[in-house]
Amino acid sequence: MGNKQINKRHTFTGGLGFVMAAAGSAVGLGNIWRFPYLAAKFGGGIFLLIYILFVFTFGYTLMIAENAIGRKSGKSCLDAFGALNKKWKLLGVLATVIPCIILPYYNVIGGWVIKYFVAYCSGLAQSAAQDGYFDAMLASPGQLTLYQGIFTALVVAVILRGVQKGVEKSCTVLMPMLVVLAVIITVYSMTLPGAMEGVKYFFIPSFENFSLSSVLAAMGQMFYSLSLAMGIMIAYGSYLPKNSSLDKNVGRIELFDTLIAVLAGLMIIPAVFSFSGGDRSALNQGPGLMFVTLPKVFAGMSIPNIIGALFFFLVFAAAITSAISIMETIVASICDHFGITRNKAVLIIGIGSFCVSMLPSLGYSVLSWVNIIGFDILDFMDFITNSVLMPICALLTCLFVSIGIGTKAIEDEVLISGSFGRRKLFNVMIKYIAPVLIIAILVSSVLNSLGIISL
Ligand code: PHE
Repeated sequence: MGNKQINKRHTFTGGLGFVMAAAGSAVGLGNIWRFPYLAAKFGGGIFLLIYILFVFTFGYTLMIAENAIGRKSGKSCLDAFGALNKKWKLLGVLATVIPCIILPYYNVIGGWVIKYFVAYCSGLAQSAAQDGYFDAMLASPGQLTLYQGIFTALVVAVILRGVQKGVEKSCTVLMPMLVVLAVIITVYSMTLPGAMEGVKYFFIPSFENFSLSSVLAAMGQMFYSLSLAMGIMIAYGSYLPKNSSLDKNVGRIELFDTLIAVLAGLMIIPAVFSFSGGDRSALNQGPGLMFVTLPKVFAGMSIPNIIGALFFFLVFAAAITSAISIMETIVASICDHFGITRNKAVLIIGIGSFCVSMLPSLGYSVLSWVNIIGFDILDFMDFITNSVLMPICALLTCLFVSIGIGTKAIEDEVLISGSFGRRKLFNVMIKYIAPVLIIAILVSSVLNSLGIISL
């Protein structure tokens, strides 16, 4: 195997590029609005502790498995499983369907973020804080189409430039920017009057808020936040040079993702506390927290347009690097499988995902009559991937490793470059504990989404 492949398979330049790209995927909307709100709801410090425990055991196991599958097979998710064991070919199809459903609705949310960023840059902080601003945006198909079109075009432009010059480069620039912005906003937020109450609420464990559902919520969040079970880590693993340590790099990605989640908590919870005079229910707004509550919080600050613009740029950086990873995963799968050129694949997926994204986007106006088992279109796409397909894919990935190829195959791949410090943990987790935990997530999140239990 020559090390100068003739324009065949792309690779990252090395460990750092891989960590930045994978962290770019992992750090997304999930870290910024979902984590702070779950932590606040499910017992503050105790939730944080359990979350961290899951990240470094369960999350680690799946992440190392997926990356190793990618690197060992040298293929992206559609073909990776089949390349290692023919009988498991179909798992590749499932793993590829997931990003195909996620990408269109992620484009829609990316469009909302750009719209808010533009509003703050135009000095519209007070309008953005008005009741009804968010709903008015959702009710205007023209605006939504424009902004999600811009978002998709930006993602396409990055992917067209390739793995090193596009994916890796954009993440290496945007991720440090995101950290700097997060630190600036956190410092500002923590110095607001009454903010310390929020910090205490975030960090000090409150046992009365703690229950089994806290554990399940922490597990589900860990899964989503690390971009597991959606083929992404397989594709990225296939771009990791053989001489770079899988074990060390995975550790860095987990650390990065967790730090950003904690920083987001420190950025948002104290600000909301200060604004609401300590009213915790202000945090329980789900997605509305970012697009409805926070603009109201910003409006009361001394420099609302600047803070708002910085914040939405940060969210934009988080969202676009995640969207890049989703599109890259699909493009890589198509190129590997059908042997078409990268540019052709990018255009097909770019245009295709934009067209499909009209469905979730119009679900708030022209198509608002569509209701699928109680969900609007965007929420349904989110439900079917996060609550159903991803746990199934993760479960099958565990079985693939323990039965399909054997854990030794993964160990060997990890040991090619560097040590495998948590090898025992990996073995026990992937064979016994992870499958049980995943079934628990699957059952509980389906029951929760259908309103049968309430997490
Ligand atoms: N991991 C991302 C987050 O925390 C979410 C994501 C979903 C990323 C789908 C890529 C694909 O927000």
